[in-house]
Amino acid sequence: MTDQYAVIGNPISHSKSPLIHSTFAQASGQDLAYSVIEGPLQGFAEAVSRFRDVGGKGMNITAPFKLQAFQLADVLTERATLAGAVNAFKFEGGRIHADNFDGIGLVNDIQRNLGAPMRGKRVLLLGAGGAARGALLPFLEQQPAELVLANRTPEKAERLVADVGRRSGLRGGGYADIGEGHFDIVVNATSASLKGELPAVSSAVFSAQGLAYELVYGKGLTPFLRLARNAGVKRLADGVGMLVEQAAEAFVWWRGVRPDTRSVITSLTVPLV
Ligand code: ATR
Repeated sequence: MTDQYAVIGNPISHSKSPLIHSTFAQASGQDLAYSVIEGPLQGFAEAVSRFRDVGGKGMNITAPFKLQAFQLADVLTERATLAGAVNAFKFEGGRIHADNFDGIGLVNDIQRNLGAPMRGKRVLLLGAGGAARGALLPFLEQQPAELVLANRTPEKAERLVADVGRRSGLRGGGYADIGEGHFDIVVNATSASLKGELPAVSSAVFSAQGLAYELVYGKGLTPFLRLARNAGVKRLADGVGMLVEQAAEAFVWWRGVRPDTRSVITSLTVPLV
């Protein structure tokens, strides 16, 4: 029988997950169907339960349900616990296993696809919301020389650093606390670009040979990427690769097969102009 998977969110019609997962399934010969569920705003748990009742094997969870998914999970990974948010379920042995692949998807895109290793580098992460929380542990695992977390509301960045515990090279604060020097990798994990806004970061943080990465995808040259380009940064990227790589991680978790991501990323890429 064909195994059933789905993505749940609200709204959900924009989701690229069905396209990504069916492409993965076709290319790797996996017999699965991947559908879309518009979860009722007041009925997330019931919608998940219905999908399990009809034999669903796993789900992706997107806005606005990632926090509720965290609450509903029976078994959580460490990175999902720190993120306080979940983007994938696997239903197994009568329990809901949950993980958050956003951070590792981002790391894989930066390192494998964009060829920018983090080990020993200076990394600046802007934001302290859900997206930044999800990225923190996977970033630290790469052992950057320095990881600076900067947020408009400094206390949130400080709290997040306190939550993850003391690690060498890790510090958090406001944009004014970033300090001197260029960063090899600057990641915008704020939601500013969704509103056409620019985080109040100085263009002095960029280095021409480095990478500027915008988590928002499909919006072309956002104010953040424009700032980076004007500062001379040649390697600019948006979050399309992260989107596909987090899907690939879920696919491996569910199916035990690693799909090829390159062609899917290419087909979904919107030029950065
Ligand atoms: P997400 O899950 O996408 O991270 P979120 O949890 O609501 O969304 O967090 C949004 C992040 O974007 C926060 O870090 C927020 O900063 P504050 O904590 O100070 O609110 C940041 N953000 C949103 N708009 C911003 C702007 N115009 N400039 C700088 N940071 C912004």
